[in-house]
Parts: sequence; structure tokens; C-alpha cells
Amino acid sequence: MNYIKFMALTILAYLSLSGFASSKDIEINIIPKPVSVKTYKGHFSITQKTKIFYNFENGHIENIASALNNHLKKFYSFNPLKFSFSNESNKGSIFLKLNTGSKMPKEGYKIEVSKNGVTIEASSPNGLFYGVQTLIQMMPSKADKISEIKLQRVLIDDYPRFEWRGLHLDVCRHFMPKEFVLKYIDYMSMHKLNTFHFHLTEDQGWRIEIKKYPLLTEVGSKREETLIGSGRTSKQYDGVPHSGFYTQEDIKEIVEYAAKRYVNVVPEIEMPGHALAALAAYPHLGCTSGPYKVATRWGVFDDVMCAGKESTFEFIEDVLEEVLNLFPSEYIHIGGDECPKTKWIECPLCQKRIEQEGLKDEHELQSYFIQRAERFLNSKGRKLIGWDEILEGGLAPNAAVMSWRGVEGGIAAAKQSHYVVMTPGSHCYFDHYQADPLTQPLAIGGFTPLEKIYSYEPVPDILSQDEARYIMGAQGNVWTEYMKTTDHVEFMVYPRAAALAEVVWSEKSERDYKEFLKRLQEQVKRYDVYGINYSKTALDK
Ligand code: ACM
Ligand code: ZN
Repeated sequence: MNYIKFMALTILAYLSLSGFASSKDIEINIIPKPVSVKTYKGHFSITQKTKIFYNFENGHIENIASALNNHLKKFYSFNPLKFSFSNESNKGSIFLKLNTGSKMPKEGYKIEVSKNGVTIEASSPNGLFYGVQTLIQMMPSKADKISEIKLQRVLIDDYPRFEWRGLHLDVCRHFMPKEFVLKYIDYMSMHKLNTFHFHLTEDQGWRIEIKKYPLLTEVGSKREETLIGSGRTSKQYDGVPHSGFYTQEDIKEIVEYAAKRYVNVVPEIEMPGHALAALAAYPHLGCTSGPYKVATRWGVFDDVMCAGKESTFEFIEDVLEEVLNLFPSEYIHIGGDECPKTKWIECPLCQKRIEQEGLKDEHELQSYFIQRAERFLNSKGRKLIGWDEILEGGLAPNAAVMSWRGVEGGIAAAKQSHYVVMTPGSHCYFDHYQADPLTQPLAIGGFTPLEKIYSYEPVPDILSQDEARYIMGAQGNVWTEYMKTTDHVEFMVYPRAAALAEVVWSEKSERDYKEFLKRLQEQVKRYDVYGINYSKTALDK
């Protein structure tokens, strides 16, 4: 070997060892921001020949490998990568390593991308799934038919801050097709959101089939027409009937689909208020004989379920029984918000109940109502969660509270050692305007731009460390009075749900809005390919 050739080889060897021989570093832009990311020189490339190995004997591999394969197909027109069992990693491949004995947090994961391949390790399948979601976000975000997907060499250690990372959807004010609900769940899982709050019953429509009460959907899922314009001022209606509901088969499909994406579906069955659709179907549920009509405008209505009649509680237990058979969720949401007491004051049966039970007033009657629902749920091994009005008149013994009228309800509940999900209207309502109303489609009101959501801190300062443990997390709420179409829902939800995802996943000290916006520029390229109709307001600046 002559000297020049020797020197050339030496330099080449040095460059390739230090990583300089390959192309430049790829920026890591993950949402929500991981706890720790360390990058190193060098790359590993996924090609059509890359194999996936996994070391566990259960059904989860399909869910986890499919998440990866679906993305590879959508973005890069890849055929599915093959996967097979192996106890150890193999050179040039992706290794999904389940280590149930490890002390890693349940939804946490570690990723190592080396020149020899990728290892994702977790103590649960949930963690492996999230590791794959992160890996996906490390891939080039421009859809392209490329044959070699370069990943930066990296060590990532990541886990969520909160266990309840929620997104809600009201399918009652406007019915949303099942296919859309499935996509909604997909996009949640992309953002490591894990709790889908499915708001299924309302004044304006009952949307879940209950076999024992067929009129709930035959009558209750249909309204004659819908208000046009602002609920505060308008008296104009569209004259167009609106209807829709999910069969029990649809519900099973949604719940299974969500489970494969490690999303828990929490159903909400509203009681005793927001129940006009149920009253229209079964007038005996009300304090008077009616007649009742499925509501055609928005707001809060005086007609609610009668708390005096035993038949009301029979109905509720029957409905919940079917709901429990469909939803494995530990928590069942029973609503409990905005229940006027006017009819209870006039109703002899409600007044008799107050007297017989030695209750102080109608607030305690509401509390009695919720406690009966809780007793039923607890007897079936489930837990009750309700809006913060369930604090009024005394909280049911084991109830969790969803704090929406500000954070006070959440604080009061945590101080009483009850679990809490924070979802204050000020920061977590995605039906509010996200930009100057003059530039936006009509919304219910409010002003909750992306930055405001991003700035939200779910644990109020006033709570002690012990009390703070009761804050399970936070959730974005999506009420659809003013969202007639699925496109409009997406416009209101994204990218605000991405901001919320980071609020519930990442430590507050790690959050930096400007830097988030930079990462979001990459994330929205994925939204483009998935066809998410997100709002560009916050990105255009
Ligand atoms: C609510 O927004 N009425 C819970
Ligand atoms: Zn009554």
C-alpha cells in the first residue's frame, strides 16, 4: 500500500467512525416532547428488507407492528415489514423488547437507534406502541416514495407525566359517523393521548343503541331541525331533520379499534339533566307527563329526569348495564352537569323523596341521584366520574370529578381525596375560538388560542404534594353545537390537541412554546398526508 492510499483509507475510516462520512444530522422533532433525547453521529436506515423481531407471546404484536407498517405504507408506499419472534435483537433489524419485570413506567419506553438497528424497550405493550409512535416521528415527515428511511442515532427515554390524557367528542349536538370516530382515535394515539371521552347522550340526541329501550334511538336520536346561528340570539331554524346513532356492533368496533391503539373509551351517559332526548322517548322519566321533544336549540333545559320515581333508577341501571357490557373502562361518566332544579321543586314525587330521605334541598337530591348511580357502578366493579356539579350537595363516596367550570371543583375534590380530571373552560375547551372571531367560523364564544392551551398547568399551585396526587390529568373538550361537519371538528381540534398532548405528557419545566411551534411545523406535514383539516392560524405567524 502506498502512502497516499494509506492516508486516504485512514481518513475515510476516521470519518465513518465519527459519523461524518454519512450525511448530516437529522433533527428530532417529537410531539409530545420526550423526557430525554440524546443524539449521536450516524444513522440507521429502514428499508423494505428490514425485519421486526419481538420477544413476547401475546396478541399485542399485531397492534404495534401495524402502527409502524400503516405509517410506512401511507408515507413511503412500503410493503409491510415482516415480523417474527426472537429472544434477542438481530443486526439490521427493529427489536421490540417487552420487559414486564422492569421498573419502567407503564406507558414509558426507551429507544436505541444504533448503526446496527433499532431497539424499543418497554414494560408494557402500551410503552412499545408509544415507542413506535416516536420512531414514526423520527422519520422524514415529507411523504415520498423513498426506499431508505434514515433514522438518526439516538437514545430516548420517555414516559408520561399524567395517566389521564384525554380528548372528548360530543356526537350528540351533531352526529359524527363511525369512520370519523375511528380516525379521531387514530390521531389521538399519534399524540399519545390515551382516554377518549365519548359523549353519547344529550338533549339534542341519544346516540347509542340500548336494546331494552329501543325508543331511545327510534325517537331520541332524531330531531326535527336545528337552530341556525348563535344560540344566544337566533330564532331561525334550518328545517332539516338531523339524526344518527351507533349500534352496539358499532360501539364494539370503536372500543376494539381504540384498544388496539391503547386508547380507553370512557362513555358518558348524561343524568339527570341534558336528557331531553331520553324524555322524548320515554316521557315517564320526567317529572311531568310532557310531552317532550328532542331539543332543536342549544342551552340548558328545565326538563330533567325525575329523582322521585323508582322507575327512573330502574331505567338508569338497565341502560348502564348494557353500557358496561360494551365498555370495559374502569370509569363511566354519568354527566351530572347543568341540571336545573325548577321541575324538582314543583314535583310532588321529588319533594317526597327529599322528605323521606331527610335531604336538605334539591342539591342534596341531585347528590342522592348520583350516589345511587355510583352504588350501581361500584357494585359492578366500576368507578363513577362526573362533571364538577356532582360536588354540590355532597360528593358520592368514590366519585371522580371532571373540573370544567374553572379549576375550583377540581381543587375541592382533590382536597377531599377524590380523583380529578382537569378540563377548565378557560384552557381546555376546543369549541372556543382559537383566533380573532372575525376571521373564524361561528363558535360558541371564548378565546383559547394554541399558546393558551400550551401554557396550561393541570396541577393548581394551591394543592399540597399529597393533594396533587389526585390530579389524574387533563382533557380537551369538543362540544359540537357549532361544528356540523367532521372537517370543522378537525379544524377546532388540531393542532390544539397537540398542545394539550404535551401539557399532559411532558413536565412543565420542559415546555417552551416557541420550540413547540418549531416541532409542530414537522408534525403538520404528517397532518397533511393524513388529511387532517387542522387550523393554520398559529403556524402562519
Ligand atoms: C359542560 O361543558 N357542560 C360540561
Ligand atoms: Zn320529579
